[in-house]
Amino acid sequence: MVWALLIRMLLSLLQEVQTRSHSLQYFYMAVSEPSPGMPAFAASGFVDDQPFIYYDSMKTKAIPLAPWLKENSDYFDDETEIFVSRKKIFHLNLRNVQEYYNQTSEHSLNKENSQKPAGPHTLQFSYGCELQDDNRTTGHWQYGYDGSDYLSLNMDTLQYTAISFIARYTKHKWEANRNSIQRDKNYLENECIQWLQRYLKDGWENLTRTETPHTQVTHHPSPNGKVTLRCWARGFYPAEITLTWRQDGEDRTQDTELIETRPAGDGTFQKWAAIVVLSGEEQRYTCHVQHEGLSEPLTLRWEPMSKLPIPVYSVVEGVGTILEDMIAYTN
Ligand SMILES: *[C@@H]1O[C@H](CO)[C@@H](O)[C@H](O)[C@H]1NC(C)=O
Ligand SMILES: *[C@@H]1O[C@H](CO)[C@@H](O)[C@H](O)[C@H]1NC(C)=O
Ligand SMILES: *[C@@H]1O[C@H](CO)[C@@H](O)[C@H](O)[C@H]1NC(C)=O
Repeated sequence: MVWALLIRMLLSLLQEVQTRSHSLQYFYMAVSEPSPGMPAFAASGFVDDQPFIYYDSMKTKAIPLAPWLKENSDYFDDETEIFVSRKKIFHLNLRNVQEYYNQTSEHSLNKENSQKPAGPHTLQFSYGCELQDDNRTTGHWQYGYDGSDYLSLNMDTLQYTAISFIARYTKHKWEANRNSIQRDKNYLENECIQWLQRYLKDGWENLTRTETPHTQVTHHPSPNGKVTLRCWARGFYPAEITLTWRQDGEDRTQDTELIETRPAGDGTFQKWAAIVVLSGEEQRYTCHVQHEGLSEPLTLRWEPMSKLPIPVYSVVEGVGTILEDMIAYTN
């Protein structure tokens, strides 16, 4: 009996580790008019949702961010070189995109452009590869301009998809160089996956761990007789989580305010989902939490008599909200 249970637990543990997808991603950003707090160039690498390396523009060097990254100085020299060479190309790319926008605005070819505000412009670049639970691999290579999608590489057709009107200029220019597209595709399908596997080996314990969410429903009355119920999940890993509100068992996703899952700064994540309800009707609402660390979904309600929450200190933004919650509780 005990053995059967133990074996079942072990099997489910093994499955858990094997059925998780993993990813290696890099994010780049160039800004046309840098200001204090906004450097001209920023770049960082992530395994799954954890930053493990970044480019320090003051030291002009690649700097490790994850305690598990055990690589020698040659590795960091190579990474620095890649960041620095990309930085130059990237600034040229940004200038070209700005020029396309300027030229088309002179000829006022399109509306899209006349809406673009003056001031600093940003070019974002994100690329990386994913290793799925069934060993399939995928890759992505995409650009954004001023916070909107701009261009992405279609790995099957080896063509760029222009998402913004102006991006057609970039598409034509870049597609002239087939070799470089083929090289990027090869990188994503081979080298990128090999690096991902290496990082997974380096950081195995950390990257395949599971931390169960700490959950709680907080209660925030407002003067109009309505109450906001906020369903919190904190301290979980990996980042993938689902929070939903139901009223009398009916899904109320449409009326739910949901924040993006955010890093707590200690390697775990936080998220909340809030719903506005009539005062006195709180018990008709349930919050449902699904996470890899939970053997079955959790169902929570607001508990009027519950003790004061134990504050979880994390990012500065989080602390403000937690203080709010504590005040709401003590009222
Ligand atoms: C675009 O036009 C603005 C205003 O006319 C000018 O300040 C800027 O230098 C131009 N940028 C480029 C890249 O041509
Ligand atoms: C995935 O690949 C690894 C190593 O190559 C292998 O051990 C594992 O069995 C494969 N999994 C599946 C689902 O094919
Ligand atoms: C896992 O690594 C992250 C950084 O990537 C770190 O912040 C966190 O403390 C580590 N967690 C554990 C349990 O080792």
